[in-house]
Amino acid sequence: MKSNDVYKSFIESPYKSIKYSTYFDSYDHFFSRYRNQNITFVEIGVLSGGSLFMWRNYFGPKARIIGIDLNPNAKKWEEHGFEIYIGSQSDIKFWEEFIKEVGLIDAVLDDGGHTYEQQIITTECLLSSINDGGIILVEDTHSSYMSGYGPKSKSFIEYTKMLIDKINMRFRNFSDYPSERRVWSIEVVESMVAFKINKKASILKSEKFHNGGIDDLAQDFRYLDNPKIGFIYKFMRLFRFMKHIPLLRALADGAIRFTANSRFNAHRYFK
Ligand SMILES: C[S@@+](CC[C@H](N)C(=O)[O-])C[C@H]1O[C@@H](n2cnc3c(N)ncnc32)[C@H](O)[C@@H]1O
Repeated sequence: MKSNDVYKSFIESPYKSIKYSTYFDSYDHFFSRYRNQNITFVEIGVLSGGSLFMWRNYFGPKARIIGIDLNPNAKKWEEHGFEIYIGSQSDIKFWEEFIKEVGLIDAVLDDGGHTYEQQIITTECLLSSINDGGIILVEDTHSSYMSGYGPKSKSFIEYTKMLIDKINMRFRNFSDYPSERRVWSIEVVESMVAFKINKKASILKSEKFHNGGIDDLAQDFRYLDNPKIGFIYKFMRLFRFMKHIPLLRALADGAIRFTANSRFNAHRYFK
C-alpha cells in the first residue's frame, strides 16, 4: 500500500484528507487506467480539499478535476484550479443542471455523505452520463451495515444486489423482466462498489450461437452427480421410446428439475 502512487499522492497533498489503509490499493486498481489522460474526474465530498490535490497529483495535469460539496466554502478551491460545484448529491435537479454544464464524465468517486439516499440518487443520476470505459466508484459502502444512514432494507448494498439481478435479467430467457443496461459490470471490494460502463456490450441482445463444429453427441453429465437423477436417466434409457412422447418427456424433465432444486444442502454456504 505504501509504495503505491495513490498513497504517495495522499501523503504529498498539502491539505487534510483522511482515508482507510485498505483504500489505496483499491483506488489504484480502479483508477490507474485513467492516469495521464484527458479525463473528467468528479469527486463528491471535498471537505478540507486534501483529496482534490491528491487526485490531481495522481491523475496528472491533463485531468479535469471537479469537486462537489454542499458546503459553499468548498468554492475556495477554485483558486487552485479545480472546478467546484455547490449542491446536494441527493437533489435530482442539481444533477440535471450539473450534467448540462459539465457534459460526459469518465470517473466519479462518491465520498459524500454516505447515506443510502445520497449514494443511490447519485448513482442513478450519473449512470447515463458516463463515457464508455468509465466508472462510478462509491466508497464507504460499509454504511449499508451501520445505523444512521437510512432504512437498511433500502441500503446502498441492497440496491447494488438488485442491480446485479437486473444485469442477469439481460439473459435471453428473462426478457419479460426489467433489466439493467446502463451498467456493464459491478465490482465489489471492501467498503467500495464500482459500476463500470460499456454501452455496446450492455445493449447486446443475448442470443444463442452455434459455432458450426462437429457434434459428437456427447452426453451432458451435469445432473449425474446426483444418484436420484441418475436413476431417472437410467430409467429413461431403458424406456428410450419415452423421449418421443412429449408428455412423458415433460414429466421426466420435471422430475429431474425437482430433484436438482431440492437436493443441494446449501445452508453451510449461506451463513
Ligand atoms: C468524507 S468528507 C469528504 C472527504 C474528502 N473526499 C477527502 O478525502 O478528504 C464528506 C464531504 O461530503 C459533503 N457532503 C455531505 N453531504 C453532502 C451532500 N448531500 N451533497 C454534497 N456533499 C455532501 C460534506 O460536506 C463533506 O465535506
